[in-house]
Amino acid sequence: MKSELVLAIESSCDDTSVALFSSEGLIKHLVSSQTTIHEEYGGVVPELATREHLQNLVPLTRELWKQTGVHPSDLTAIAATRGPGLPNALRTGYHYGQGLSLQLAIPFIDIHHHEAHLYSSFINPSDGTWALKNTHFPFLSLIVSGGHTLIVLVKGLNHYEIIGKTIDDAAGECFDKVAKLMGFPYPGGPHIDRLASKGNQKAIRFPRPMLREPHFNFSFSGLKTSVRYFIRDNPDYLDDESRRQDFCASVQEAIIEVLVAKCIKAALKHRCKLVSASGGVIANQGLRNKLNEHCLNHHMQFIPASIQFSTDNAAMVAALAHYKMSKGMVETRNPYHDVKPVWSLESLNSTN
Ligand code: KG4
Ligand code: ZN
Repeated sequence: MKSELVLAIESSCDDTSVALFSSEGLIKHLVSSQTTIHEEYGGVVPELATREHLQNLVPLTRELWKQTGVHPSDLTAIAATRGPGLPNALRTGYHYGQGLSLQLAIPFIDIHHHEAHLYSSFINPSDGTWALKNTHFPFLSLIVSGGHTLIVLVKGLNHYEIIGKTIDDAAGECFDKVAKLMGFPYPGGPHIDRLASKGNQKAIRFPRPMLREPHFNFSFSGLKTSVRYFIRDNPDYLDDESRRQDFCASVQEAIIEVLVAKCIKAALKHRCKLVSASGGVIANQGLRNKLNEHCLNHHMQFIPASIQFSTDNAAMVAALAHYKMSKGMVETRNPYHDVKPVWSLESLNSTN
C-alpha cells in the first residue's frame, strides 16, 4: 500500500485543530482552544468562534510544519470536518482545507464529526498508533459532549445505528447549566467534577430521568429544573464548602447513573463486547470509573478516548480519514462541496 500522509482540520465548534497522520500513526496534533474567549458569555458564541478559527488556522498549520519538519508537498491527502457543527465555524476549516488540496492537487476528504468521535478511542495515546481491529466490531459507542449525547451501535465502517440520543439538553450542557447556577464560568463540567470527587453522592436524591424506560434516549432538562428548585428552596445550602461538594456529587451521580445504565443495557441488548466513549464529558472521572466498573462486571472491554482525543480535535479526523483511505472508502472526486451543519450519522451507511 502507498504510504499516505494526511493533514486534517477540525473547526466544528470552539476548538481549532490540525493534525498529521501517516501509515505509522499520529505524527502530531495541535489544538487552539477558545475557552477563555467564550467563558464570559456562558457558552460558545458562534461569530466569535468563526473569527477565532480564521485567525488561528494559518498560524496553527505553520506551527505544525515547524514542529514536525513535514512540508505541504509531502502530503497525499487533506481531510476536514464537514459537519455537523456551527455553519460558519465549519466553513473556515473546511474551505481552508479545500483550498490547500486544490493548490497541492491532492484528494480532499469529508469527515463526519461524530464518526470521527466514534473511533477516537482507538488512537493509542502513547505512540499514536491505530488500534482498531476488525474483531472489535460490533461495538457500542457513547458520545457525550456539550452539544451531543448519543449511543451508537457501530456494526462496521459506514454501518451505524443511533440507538439513543437526548431529546433535550446534552449531558455536558446539563453539567454547564448546573455549574452556572452555582456561579461557575463556562465550561462548568470540570468544576462540578472537581467538587464531586470530595462529596457524598447520596446527600441529595435528584431525579434519574428516563432511567427505567425501555428505550435508550436521554432527557436532562428536568434534572436541571429540579436542581434549580432545590437551590431556590434551600438558599443557604451552597454557602458551605462541604455541602457544595455533596451537591455536586449528587448531581453528577444522577447524570452518570443514567448514562451508564443505558449504555450497559444497550451493549447487552446488542451483544457488544466492547464499549468506546468520547466527547468532552468523558473527561469526568466519576463517569470513566463507573463505566469501566460496569463494563468489567459484564465482561465487556471499555475503551474511553484518551483525554487529549476526547474533546474536539483533528487527530481523530486525521486517523479516520487515513483508515478510510486504507480501505478505499473515500469519495475524493468533488472538492467543491459546502459544509453540512446538520448531517445524520446514519446517512453515511453504505447500501451494500
Ligand atoms: O467535546 P467538548 O470539548 O465540546 C463540545 O461540546 O463540542 O465538550 C465540552 C463539554 C462541556 O459541556 C464541558 O462542561 C464538559 O464537556 N466537560 C466535563 C468535564 N470536562 C469537560 N463535564 C463533566 N466533567 C468533566 N470533567
Ligand atoms: Zn465533538
